[in-house]
Amino acid sequence: MSRIPATIAWIAPPEGPAVRMIDQTRLPGELVMIDCRTVEQLCEAIVSLRVRGAPALGCAAGYGLALAAHLSSAITVDQLVEDLSRARATIAATRPTAVNLFWALERVMAVLDVPAEDAHRELSSVRDLRGKVLAEAELIAADDLDRCVRLGRYGAELLADGANVITHCNAGALACAGYGTALGVMRAAAEGGKRLHVWVDETRPLLQGARLTAWELIQEGIPCTVLCDNMAGWLMAQGKVDCVLVGADRIAANGDAANKIGTYGLAVLAQAHGLPFYVAAPLSTLDLDTTAGTEIRIEQRSPEEVSLVAGRLREPITPTAADIYNPAFDVTPAELITAIITEVGVFAPPYEKAFCGLQT
Ligand code: MRU
Repeated sequence: MSRIPATIAWIAPPEGPAVRMIDQTRLPGELVMIDCRTVEQLCEAIVSLRVRGAPALGCAAGYGLALAAHLSSAITVDQLVEDLSRARATIAATRPTAVNLFWALERVMAVLDVPAEDAHRELSSVRDLRGKVLAEAELIAADDLDRCVRLGRYGAELLADGANVITHCNAGALACAGYGTALGVMRAAAEGGKRLHVWVDETRPLLQGARLTAWELIQEGIPCTVLCDNMAGWLMAQGKVDCVLVGADRIAANGDAANKIGTYGLAVLAQAHGLPFYVAAPLSTLDLDTTAGTEIRIEQRSPEEVSLVAGRLREPITPTAADIYNPAFDVTPAELITAIITEVGVFAPPYEKAFCGLQT
């Protein structure tokens, strides 16, 4: 299993209640754990990308509601539901694109769907519900790890021994409860004895590839090389890439997939060079209520992320008067995606048909 500590975990009283997580903004320099003790601290951690990656955001949302439930002074079930509804709205307002965050909020809130006649408005039943909320959050995290391991095994079949794989952003253990999606596939292939080499797009502007994916692959002993995002085309033209393998933040019912900005460009390049383009994601990333990628809300982030180079350079690299464009994600149309790797198998187009009736 992974040598990387759990991305996110629940800390029970007396040390908690708290949500403990790796502060991913400090990597690769230092591996630091932080404790979020309020819903506001947790939301700050989400917005600043201390915790990030679609499945990890689902775990954070679930634990955020568990935290709200433990901090609530509610005496009746109605008061608890009110407190958690407020927390849900606060967490939902953090980042709009990764569907896992909303999926987890709904899944945990469903635990509170107690028919009015069954809800004894007593202290014992509030305590009971608090426990159920935490149990559901814990289940989401455990389940995510299991989904990643299973999808890793399916995806590993697609990678040949000796393959050169290019990836974008970080879809590894850090982006999930553990193991990873796109990196989970690489990990499973390596565990199965395949020799791989991974080309890691640095992933401007926040450098999740250079900082996080390279760090993870080095921890796992998988050979990798970092490149600037604008070098991928030339690399492919020289025949140095066998396939593209990335994660996703939200996959629409027609197979259009939102992922870190720059993924779409990589998909176009893959098609131009006749290379397979794979997306690896658990079914919790599938949004069957969204018909097509055009409906996916793309998060716009602050101009400083571009002008200050991942916050490391104090001096802007742009003239102060320059307008800056900073969408956090793009959408790769389904027709550019060779296959979508999930925990229940590998899907090929047409995705509408393949996804029909699936339970997320
Ligand atoms: O802005 P981030 O770092 O949260 O974006 C993350 C990505 O785009 C990942 O590729 C995606 O969430 C898949 S993670 C398994």
